[in-house]
Amino acid sequence: MANVNEHYLKLKSSYLFSEIARRVREFQEAHAEARIIRLGIGDVTQPLPPTVIRALHEAVDEMARAETFRGYGPETGYDFLTALVAKHDYGSRGVSIAPDEIIVSDGSKSDSGNIQEIFAADATVALTDPVYPVYLDSNVMAGRAGTADERGRYSRVVYMPCTAENGFQPALPERPVDMVYLCFPNNPTGSVLTRPQLKRWVDWARANNAVLLFDAAYEAYIREPEIPHSIYEVEGAREVAIECRSFSKSAGFTGLRLAYTVVPKEMRGRSADGAMQSVNQLWTRRTTIKSNGAPYIVQKAAAATYTPDGQKQVRALVDFYMENARTIATGLAEAGFTVYGGRNAPYIWIRIPAGISSWDFFDRMLAEANVVGAPGGGFGPSGEGYFRLTAFGSREKTEEAVARIKSCRR
Ligand code: MLT
Repeated sequence: MANVNEHYLKLKSSYLFSEIARRVREFQEAHAEARIIRLGIGDVTQPLPPTVIRALHEAVDEMARAETFRGYGPETGYDFLTALVAKHDYGSRGVSIAPDEIIVSDGSKSDSGNIQEIFAADATVALTDPVYPVYLDSNVMAGRAGTADERGRYSRVVYMPCTAENGFQPALPERPVDMVYLCFPNNPTGSVLTRPQLKRWVDWARANNAVLLFDAAYEAYIREPEIPHSIYEVEGAREVAIECRSFSKSAGFTGLRLAYTVVPKEMRGRSADGAMQSVNQLWTRRTTIKSNGAPYIVQKAAAATYTPDGQKQVRALVDFYMENARTIATGLAEAGFTVYGGRNAPYIWIRIPAGISSWDFFDRMLAEANVVGAPGGGFGPSGEGYFRLTAFGSREKTEEAVARIKSCRR
């Protein structure tokens, strides 16, 4: 029998969203009559935009004819898509990104989990706390995190607490760090970084030879015009930052699967012999070895989001979810909760009453309101005392969830 990867045994017993799903399943089995409203995992609920559906049909028809059939595509994405991304997602904001700096994949969950593979096994990782669990767990699996204490804090990870007390802004690490994961607009707290705040990070990374792994999966939700959508809007970021973006939350692709990661050619990492290595080449190499590319029909669907109609429809989808965010935020504030997020992000982060753990609060909401959220503690020790709701529900269910939570508070 082969030995297993011991690092996997250092993972917490289950992945946050699997544990939520398990508790909900058990509750539903025990209470068949309960009409549960799911605002836990940030999964979209509205149909794909009509332009995307049309593009999917057309691409399927192409696959049905020998002359237009496609087999394996380029592992890093079709040129028709990377050119559109470069022009619309970056060029339109005055940022110059070359198409071959954009590497297309099946999702930001995979990209943000896999990107650590191209860095040294003994690299030091800094994470915000609370954090999207994939960043931590992928580093635990790679053996970079060390072992967990009873609070779930890993010995080799540098935690950057983000709580109401510091405005959910991570402080710069005080000790040397190689890789820093930043997600803004933030999952789970819904906070954003202003341009000067982002610049501090870029300047710090340049001065400290660190790499910033910037997850911008929620950039489409930014409403305040002065908030940067991309880390590359900050000068100097091309040398130190990798950026992940997704079609999941903007165009509703959670089921279709499509994302991309930008790795600028200026980015260098050092190898053990002291030589400088191109990070873009390493990520491209990894992608060509481990992937045969995202499906053609899905990339055609993504390309359709950049047409004038596609852009309008994606905007309408995001507006729809942001109206849910407003409904949740105002409703829960009226119910007496202190509410954060929801202004530039599809997540609403609420303070829960003192003296109850976030998992107990989760169970209570499930039992009393039949509403599923996500317990703050599931995102890290500093998430304790908070609870997350997503704005990705239907209008009707979002309004009903708010009404039910309000009546539980009475
Ligand atoms: C979340 O709920 O935090 C996200 O939907 C998870 C994900 O995108 O994988």
